[in-house]
Amino acid sequence: MLRLGVNIDHVATIRNARGTPWPDPLRAARLAEAAGADGITAHLREDRRHISDADIDALMAGLSLPLNFEMAAIPEMQAIALRHRPHAVCIVPEKREERTTEGGLDVAGNDTALAAYIAPLRDAGCRVSLFIGHEPAQIRAATRIGAAVVELHTGAYCDLDTEGRHAERDAELAALRDGAALAHDLGLEVHAGHGLTFDTVGPIAAIPQIAELNIGHFLISESVFLGLDGAIREMRARMDAARP
Ligand code: PXP
Repeated sequence: MLRLGVNIDHVATIRNARGTPWPDPLRAARLAEAAGADGITAHLREDRRHISDADIDALMAGLSLPLNFEMAAIPEMQAIALRHRPHAVCIVPEKREERTTEGGLDVAGNDTALAAYIAPLRDAGCRVSLFIGHEPAQIRAATRIGAAVVELHTGAYCDLDTEGRHAERDAELAALRDGAALAHDLGLEVHAGHGLTFDTVGPIAAIPQIAELNIGHFLISESVFLGLDGAIREMRARMDAARP
């Protein structure tokens, strides 16, 4: 079954806007579990703009779902991941000036450094995932350096849909399909995420090689109207409808 990982970063964004203890990301994670999430994703950014170190401590201690710990490939984050040993570690590119993770990792251009970076994480029992675009060179490099998982970046596909550029969106979707098939053939587990909404999730969920979707911003946004439980259940229903 296609798994849904709920990204709770923006629960922390709202909390941090006022410096209160609420809304509590752990509470959101527990609610997500009750609503049918299969995992929780949290990105500890270098600048701690949303999730904090204390949130990771609380999630590791209080969550029964697997945690997918998103982080940049920097020594500080490697040390934190090795201390906590979450179920999965997803390595993402991170720039301070970006609003959100803007592109995929350049695995092909940094294969030696990334191979050395992920080896201790893999040895510690974490499933290592690399957040990449659909380019075959990046997918092949991910296999070469020993990643277990690639997460394909769906942000461009979603942006093109929002902008009404349907021919380009469809080309991007076709490239994501090809990328998922190649990664799967090479023995990688395939995940996807970024920017997914009720409207854009169906065609991605329909790609048969994809095992997991990670979705955050839209679910937290939609929870203003539907509640977190309602937003997650609706997303789950759309995923299931696309993958009978
Ligand atoms: N996957 C990865 C690797 C991400 O960095 C993010 C954003 O933090 C997501 C999925 C979720 O993206 P969104 O919040 O746009 O749904």
